[in-house]
Amino acid sequence: YQLEIYLNGLSGVVPDLPMEFGELERRAERALPPSVWSYVHGGAGSERTQRANVAAFDRWGLLPRMFRGTTERDLSVELFGTTSPSPVFMAPIGVLGICAQDGRGDLATARAAARSGVPMIASTLSNDPLEDVAGEFGETPGFFQLYTPTDRDLAESLVHRAERAGYRGIVVTLDTWIPGWRPRDLATSNFPQLRGHCLRNYTSDPVFRASLDKSPEEDLNAVVLRWVQIFGNSLTWDDLPWLRSLTDLPLIVKGICHPDDARRARDMGVDGIYCSNHGGRQADGGMPALDMLPEVVEASGELPVLFDSGVRGGADVVKALALGATAVGIGRPYAYGLALGGTEGVVHVLRSVLAEADLLMAVDGYASPAELTRDALRPVR
Ligand code: FNR
Repeated sequence: YQLEIYLNGLSGVVPDLPMEFGELERRAERALPPSVWSYVHGGAGSERTQRANVAAFDRWGLLPRMFRGTTERDLSVELFGTTSPSPVFMAPIGVLGICAQDGRGDLATARAAARSGVPMIASTLSNDPLEDVAGEFGETPGFFQLYTPTDRDLAESLVHRAERAGYRGIVVTLDTWIPGWRPRDLATSNFPQLRGHCLRNYTSDPVFRASLDKSPEEDLNAVVLRWVQIFGNSLTWDDLPWLRSLTDLPLIVKGICHPDDARRARDMGVDGIYCSNHGGRQADGGMPALDMLPEVVEASGELPVLFDSGVRGGADVVKALALGATAVGIGRPYAYGLALGGTEGVVHVLRSVLAEADLLMAVDGYASPAELTRDALRPVR
């Protein structure tokens, strides 16, 4: 990508969309209605965790190595039985539809996954049924993120639909059984607007439909009420064997920040650990997710560790890989790309992040993610 971007640049063709994250964010803020902007950009409480996530990357510096001849690089990684051409993936974003002018942001993002080869983890809270989202992935592997409803039959139905639709793994998010304290959401009272963009995955589900007295088309209030009743499920470790039993697909647990939780999940048979604090949207006053990554990696043993929270560019991807992540997720940046340019906008953001990571690895003398170890980093004093 970087060659393409640079060669175009040399011949005077520069991208319409910003190359730099700060500018991307400012443009997205101008483009989105305030209520949508506050939903996407906002975090929990005073947003200290969210800022700390980003700042944590500044405390590590990469060391360039010389005489390494890194003209050829291979950024691919093994992800749960499939080879992904890049170590970057799109973290699940619920209510993504709201970022696209036509409300079909989940589909537009899935198309960007197909175009870029960057895997997408599709959220339970999507505006299009999970089958339709999977239908746009092309050859790129996709994963399904489960918010586990209190109704176990519904949980099972969602997982089995994902299996049939060809998803390559189930990512169970554990940190959002209840929404965090998000003052911006409260200030713009955006809930009614949001809910119109996140329920179609449920209303297309046979178990969900059967639990309503009337059809969803007839009674939207009943849909919303039912959804509020079932959304929050405060799981315990005793529920993990049940989740494990739902599917033979790889099972990944998202929201792990404490090494003991990683160790216990590994011992109970999950296939992957996802270290994340939800981009600082759930709990304020938390540790930056990056600071917990090394301990989580160590506790996870041989299991792959996905990471997100605070990644804003290629250098951040490279640092997270050097701290032991198997693959690195981005959240808000691609939502901003979607808001500014639909599928093209998402592809632009992904390509920019990948091009920067690739070029940085070339300059610094690392030919593959496997060569990026802790020795590639030093703490900045
Ligand atoms: C999220 N995230 C999220 N996670 C999840 O498991 N299911 C979901 O539906 C959502 N929804 C969601 C909406 C919005 C608007 C955002 C910004 C985030 C969390 C997401 O997967 C990821 O953990 C963070 O976005 C990563 O942090 P950054 O990259 O946004 O800093």
